[in-house]
Amino acid sequence: MTQTGAVVLGVETSCDETGIGIVIDGQLRANVIASSIDEQARFGGVVPEVASRAHVDAWGPTLDAACEQAGIALTDVDAVAVTAGPGLVGALLVGVSAAKGLAAGLGVDVYGVNHLAAHIAVDELEHGELPDPVIALLVSGGHSSLVLMTADRIEPIGQTLDDAAGEAFDKVARLLGLPFPGGPHIDRAAADGDHAAYDLPRALMHDPDHLYDFSFSGLKTAVSRLLASFGEEMNDAQVRNVAASFQEAVADALTRKAVAACRDKGVDHLVLGGGVAANSRLRSLMEQRAEGASLVLRVPRPGLCTDNGAMVAALGSRLIRHGVTPTAPGFPATSHMPVTSIAFS
Ligand code: KG4
Ligand code: ZN
Repeated sequence: MTQTGAVVLGVETSCDETGIGIVIDGQLRANVIASSIDEQARFGGVVPEVASRAHVDAWGPTLDAACEQAGIALTDVDAVAVTAGPGLVGALLVGVSAAKGLAAGLGVDVYGVNHLAAHIAVDELEHGELPDPVIALLVSGGHSSLVLMTADRIEPIGQTLDDAAGEAFDKVARLLGLPFPGGPHIDRAAADGDHAAYDLPRALMHDPDHLYDFSFSGLKTAVSRLLASFGEEMNDAQVRNVAASFQEAVADALTRKAVAACRDKGVDHLVLGGGVAANSRLRSLMEQRAEGASLVLRVPRPGLCTDNGAMVAALGSRLIRHGVTPTAPGFPATSHMPVTSIAFS
């Protein structure tokens, strides 16, 4: 294997998506996702055991489809990268076990990597090597944070004190009677709504102890109170306007804090990552505010923001390019992997 020409297979099973991506020489060659979301939707959330069983079922077909899409045989793979955490531990165990077995069978290196770092690294597939340093706004179903990333380190700057941004989207969608996962449904409903219809709170905007931290639980409560004030029935216009006003409040808080972090830390590159980075309003407001602050903004296309295997392969590829030692095969699957740990050593 040459460092630049490596064929890296990435495995993602931290939640309900079985994702396998293949990156060759830094280029995305395959990105296949099997999702158990339809099974989960009827429970209104992800049921861990349903997710784990679905990963077991999806592993073989997803692997075959990824190799076919990339036009390679399994024996062409030079390294396997797999999400080792954070996530649902039973779901992670399926991917980690499968990836270890695959790497051992092929006699290649394995990298047990951090899901959150992979959400940042995926941008390299579209926009080339990330600058050093760069600030990342990471917004997913389980995490919301601002981090400073250098060539070999990730340092937290701020985080949510309660709900993650995606969790807030999912909870508010449920209040509005929209299906799970709520983010894309709120995004669609908001497109025809008025984002100034309701003045919803933005938390921690002036608290010097929490300049870069987020809080979304008060916003969720405010939406709940607003809906109660409508009485029994909500009409479609109200749903669209609440969706738009809520989305605006989240996007406003996220973008203001991301710009402030860049300005205060003297960093002029910002990257967005995680499922909520697929949100159309967050993307457009971030673009507008980044331009106003003379920041260079990098945002992966929406399909690469939500969970997938390409992002794990992208991080594996980056680690190989940076000469990082592969992970010793005894590494665990862990639900609480801090963002500072890019990969197990
Ligand atoms: O990164 P991700 O796919 O999985 C986790 O690592 O959690 O993020 C999933 C989250 C869900 O909460 C989902 O509702 C949200 O991302 N999401 C969105 C959009 N697409 C997905 N939120 C807002 N707008 C979207 N378009
Ligand atoms: Zn994710």
